[in-house]
Order: sequence, then C-alpha cells, then structure tokens
Amino acid sequence: MTTASSGQPADDLQADLVIVANRLPVDRVTEPDGAQSWRTSPGGLVTALEPVLRASGGAWIGWAGGTDHIEPFERDGVHLVPVQLDDQEIEEFYEGFSNATLWPLYHDVVAPPQFHREWWDSYVRVNRRFAERAAQVATEGSTVWVQDYQLQLVPQMLRELRPDLRIGFYLHIPFPPTELFVQLPWRRQILEGLLGADLIGFQTPGGAANFVRLVRQRVGHRTKSSSIYLPDGRVVRARSFPISIDAAGFEELARTPGVEERAKEIREALGSPEHVFLGIDRLDYTKGIYARLRAFGELLRDGDLTVEDAVFVQVATPSRERVEEYRRLRDEIDMLVGRINGVYGEIGNPAISYLHSSYPREEMAALYRAADVMVVTPYRDGMNLVAKEYVACRVEEDGALVLSEFAGAAHELRQAWLVNPHDMNGLKSVLLAASRATARDQTRRMRAMRRQVMEHDVKHWADTFLGQLSAVPVEETAASRG
Ligand code: G6P
Repeated sequence: MTTASSGQPADDLQADLVIVANRLPVDRVTEPDGAQSWRTSPGGLVTALEPVLRASGGAWIGWAGGTDHIEPFERDGVHLVPVQLDDQEIEEFYEGFSNATLWPLYHDVVAPPQFHREWWDSYVRVNRRFAERAAQVATEGSTVWVQDYQLQLVPQMLRELRPDLRIGFYLHIPFPPTELFVQLPWRRQILEGLLGADLIGFQTPGGAANFVRLVRQRVGHRTKSSSIYLPDGRVVRARSFPISIDAAGFEELARTPGVEERAKEIREALGSPEHVFLGIDRLDYTKGIYARLRAFGELLRDGDLTVEDAVFVQVATPSRERVEEYRRLRDEIDMLVGRINGVYGEIGNPAISYLHSSYPREEMAALYRAADVMVVTPYRDGMNLVAKEYVACRVEEDGALVLSEFAGAAHELRQAWLVNPHDMNGLKSVLLAASRATARDQTRRMRAMRRQVMEHDVKHWADTFLGQLSAVPVEETAASRG
C-alpha cells in the first residue's frame, strides 16, 4: 500500500505551524469492504490542536503505526505527514528505547529500565528522521512544536538544520528527579537535545524544576528560576503547562439522552448494586491497577463490601503488547481478577467486571456517568486525563474521585480523595470513605473540581503554550544563527 488517504499527496507541502509527535492523530481502519480509511484518534491533543492547525494550514508529522510507506495527505484542512519506521526500528526505537528505557525511567523506575546501546542508536536515527522531515515542511520563521519523550533529540537536531524556527517541546510524562535521570548513559545528549527548544513544557512545576536543576548541575549552564542562559546568548524557558481535556465536549456528550440511557443500562446489567467502582486505563504497570483491585478484593474479604452491594468495573485498554513488562502485567491482572471473582463472585454478581478492550467515547462517557467511585491510582503519571474526564462527565455534580497523589492531576484536583497507592491499608480506607461519603460532601468536592476542569481545558493549555512560544523575542532565536 502506498497511500490510504482520501486527500491528495502533498510531498512538497509547507506549513507555518508544524506539530511533530511520535504518532499521527489518526488511526487506520479497515472498512467492511476491505478499503482502508483514517479515523481521528481519540484524545485531547488532536481536539485542541486541530482548530489552530486548520486555521494556519498546519501540518502534523508522525508515525502511522506499522511499516507501510504512506504519502503525505490532507484531512480536514490539516496536512498529515507520515514518517516511516521499519520492523527493527519499531523494536529498538519504539518498544525498546522509548518504552522499555525512557518510560520506566521517567516513571520513578516502577519497572527496571533497560539500557541497550543499539536501542539508543536507533533512537538517534529515528529522531533525526523526524527532525529532517520537520525541517522540510516548516516555512521560514515558522513554529514547530515537538511532543513527548519519544522525540527528545528533535529540538536540537532541528535547530541545527533550521535556526530560523521557533521550537517548542512538551513532555507529556513526568520528568524524573535528578537521582533517577542520571542513571541514563545518554543523559547529557538528552538534555542537550531538549535545549534546542525555545520553550520546554512540563506537566508540573516539579518536573520543570528537575530539568532546570539537571541542566545547571550536569551541563553547567547558568539558570534563574525557569530561564536557562546558553553560551550563544539564547535563553531557553522550562515551565509547567498542565494538560487537559476537551471538557465542554465531554460534558455535552455526557448530557445526551443516549449516554444517559446507556449509563442506566450498564448499572442494571451489573445487577443494580449500591456502589459501582470504576477504573479505566491503558494496561500499563504505572497505573496501579493491580493495587486497586487487590484493595477491593481485601474489602470483600474483610466484609466491608459485599458482591451484592458493590462491583468493580475495570476497563484495561490493550497497549504495547510486545513489550515484556506489559505481557507480564496482563497475566498478573488476569490471575488476580480470576482469583477474586472465583472466591467472592456469585452467579449474576461478579466482584470485578474486567474488560480488556477499548471503547468509543460515548461508551466511556456512559461508564463515567454510571460510576459512583472513580478509582485512579497510578504510582506515577504525568497528568492522568481519565480523572479529568470523569469530572467533566459528572453533570449532576455527584460521584467520588479517588486519585493518586502521584498523578499530575492531583495538583489541580485537590478536592479528590487523595491516596498513596503503595499504602494498601490507606487505599482500602479511602475506597470505603469515598463510597460512603454523604451527598453533600460529594457535591461540594465535585463542584470545585468541575470548575477547575471546565476553566482549564485543553484549548487553554494549547493557547497558553503557543502564546508563550510566540512571545519568544525573535532576536533571541536569531542570536543562534550562523
Ligand atoms: C502516553 C504517552 C503518549 C503515547 C500514549 C499511547 O500517553 O505520553 O506519547 O502516545 O501514551 O502510547 P503508545 O505507545 O500506544 O503511543
């Protein structure tokens, strides 16, 4: 297959705003008649950036998944520019260095990171390919915004090719503390790679502070609060921009009669229990799925909850299934769910309703509306958008959010029932407290959280970042020329 697009090939295309991300904002779908087409990926990033990209005739550079060569194409006024990976690069750059080195290292070493020199070489090679593509597509003096941990070398590589550009970088996952980051054999290269940007965004002030401290200590640049002064006169800013969701879109969806009806159906299908607990995650070891299900199992064992009055619905979206740690996790969760259901479940009353699958937005909204207690317990998470989606969907201002202290979202959703997922007894008592909270307490908390999420949506996030990037004085950018 050379092209699966409905638009025209546009190999010589030029754009004033370029997004560079590991993945394109579309997924390939095969129609019943076998034809290939594209569907917009779920996720806030696309929703937030699509209007600005469309208005500026912008471009999005990314991997389409798989190994096919696909020509650039246009969709809804946005140019999509596929970057091709081969099988070895998928193994070494994507599954290897991105998801078995950087991912665990940046998430507090929840799983041991693996360091392999061939993976690093592949990471460098693929980052260069993305940078070269961006250098071809961006017009003179335009803006390029690079996304996430898979592409941390792109800012510097791109600046070398195109010093006229304004370059932004945003890290969607946590930036780790110095003590962990320095394990990385290529720590200096990653820091230098990021410093190619004019503005570097993090989810939390702590992540930005970790980065600035490392640059001062390890690269030796002078820093002052969020500013880093480079020897060539350039100033790089590292600041926090907490990401969010299309809050109004979720709220509107949650209010539709179809979703409301479906939420009722779900509760009935679960046997109309008093308490519906819900978890929705990518099946990832950082998410604390095992801990929360174990806590729920112990509450059943202790008799604090019974299967007649409580059920746990856990949706686990398949993810990175060829990476060893993810396979192991899947087996562990399968076993735990089987054990808990085997011991405590009854005919018509399972303890845990476990769904290893992904669902459309409508079904997610219905699940959010059906759930009394949303359980979000990552050991470490950049933000966690599920927590914000739940809040946006609780249009009746009820329901309880149990939220890990170690999710970026905990900085904003202070009225959640905050919990340390490593503390099993703490987790158990918070699950009980949240499920037994009075309606008044729930409303007080939910109202405050809803205000926060509705006012700080993903559009606000993108506008703030791009606004600050466009305010970078041009002389500073130009100072690095020649
Ligand atoms: C996280 C990362 C994203 C990534 C997503 C899905 O949210 O921050 O960069 O795209 O997970 O993971 P995948 O490996 O399927 O792209």
